[in-house]
Amino acid sequence: MTIIKGGLILSFICLIHRGTAQTTLGHLFSEEVSNISFPKNFKWGYASAAYQVEGAWNLDGKGPSVWDYDARNNPDWFINGQNGDVGPDGYHNVDVDIELLLRQKVNTYRLSIAWTRILPNGLLSGGINQKGIDFYKNIITKLRANNIEPVVTMMHWDQPRALEDNGGFLNESIIPAFLDYATLLWETYGDDVQWWTTFNEPKQICGGGYDWGWSSPQNLLPGIGSYICGHNLLRAHAKAYKIYNERFRETQKGKISVNLDLTWQEPATNSPEDEEAAERGRLFWLGWFAHPMVFGDYPEIMKQRIGDRSRRLNLTTSRLPEFTEEEKEELKDSIDFFAIQMYTTNLVTAQEDAPVNETSFDNDLSINSYQPDDWPTTLSSWFRVVPWGARRLLNWIRDTYGDEKGIFITENGYPDDQTILEDMDTRGRCHKLYLSNINDAIYKDKINVIGYLAWSLIDDVEWYGGWVVTFGQYNVDFTSENKTRTPKQSTEYYRKVVTTGCLVDDCVEPL
Ligand code: BGC
Repeated sequence: MTIIKGGLILSFICLIHRGTAQTTLGHLFSEEVSNISFPKNFKWGYASAAYQVEGAWNLDGKGPSVWDYDARNNPDWFINGQNGDVGPDGYHNVDVDIELLLRQKVNTYRLSIAWTRILPNGLLSGGINQKGIDFYKNIITKLRANNIEPVVTMMHWDQPRALEDNGGFLNESIIPAFLDYATLLWETYGDDVQWWTTFNEPKQICGGGYDWGWSSPQNLLPGIGSYICGHNLLRAHAKAYKIYNERFRETQKGKISVNLDLTWQEPATNSPEDEEAAERGRLFWLGWFAHPMVFGDYPEIMKQRIGDRSRRLNLTTSRLPEFTEEEKEELKDSIDFFAIQMYTTNLVTAQEDAPVNETSFDNDLSINSYQPDDWPTTLSSWFRVVPWGARRLLNWIRDTYGDEKGIFITENGYPDDQTILEDMDTRGRCHKLYLSNINDAIYKDKINVIGYLAWSLIDDVEWYGGWVVTFGQYNVDFTSENKTRTPKQSTEYYRKVVTTGCLVDDCVEPL
């Protein structure tokens, strides 16, 4: 079985096992759409990431990220040689893209800052690139001038290549480097930005980059690398959060989180074994990061399973590192809102534990997670349209972590052939049905969801997948000199939703 995420073809022999079970969940695939207006203060917008939209990989003093390095040194990892060297050239199209945001009437825009545009070799001691500072200052100032709230991610997968020569996230020396960078961003932009996330999808940074390999730098140490990376990343986040509390919070009054992602894990049957396997999947994939940042430590099931499997291999310590008491204190309660990104859902069945000598994250987890053949497909093999999964996921987050601080959906979208402009029945419908489930979560389940950011405004570089499959509501003509943007049908629908808060023609106000 193969799955494509970001265009990289991976074999998931143990993990993915599609097509054996026919779902009994068919009744949940309802086309019914809520007619209750979203809350008036709901955040509506789009999300983006520096590597995917900016291009200008080496212009005006920018240093190379791990992706820039791989575009040169491992070009065959990128489909058709399509990489982020130029991409949609957002670097030279700031005003054009802000015009699109204004056309869409959104009140929020999520962007990420390329660490190496600010600090070319990743380190403060290597010098600050003023042109990089100015580039983001200009965007943030223009967004604010147009009443569009910026949500800024400090690192969306594009860590400095220079730090990778020392092991990147496998070396704890990345922590002080990140803290210098985060501090500089708060000193520079903190008065204008209220919403921050330190990292985008740590599971993909750490698992993809150091364990299973669908993300650069693909420095793979299965069953070890992802945990060390995750540990250093979590410590970097907690220490950055502490710095914000001590130096910036009083004056800047911002909110900080980490963008977490989860493919919803639904038990294939109601047997206790499948229920347990699905919960284990959620805890390994989301709890790995959410538990420490809410409760101060990894989920018990991770500590227990990885510890046990390490002992049985005669290792003296667990492959999952331990936090010190001080680190637990720092980590506990270190997010100000819950940022979740969700795209699809898998069914889960229990399976026998993998042999302990084959170390990998997937084998530590040992579940069978798959998508049945009768679920609606898209052009991406990993993505089937499962709107009800959104509501289940939101319920689980509220029940597991609470929703007092607000749950913010910071990415959700639909992958398709980028040349298709008539996308109301595909992308538009997908946004509509997911939003309807989110609306049910808000009104029927009383969950505090504060916003929704569509991925994405324009077609961009889908990592190793180039622009073969994209998520944009605006088409980009990648062959044209100006990278011309053209609206797809879904822009009309999304604009209507954003301006009216209503998914159908006529809505009623909530009681
Ligand atoms: C990532 C985006 C990516 C999207 C679609 C998310 O996991 O944050 O960078 O483009 O998925 O694959």
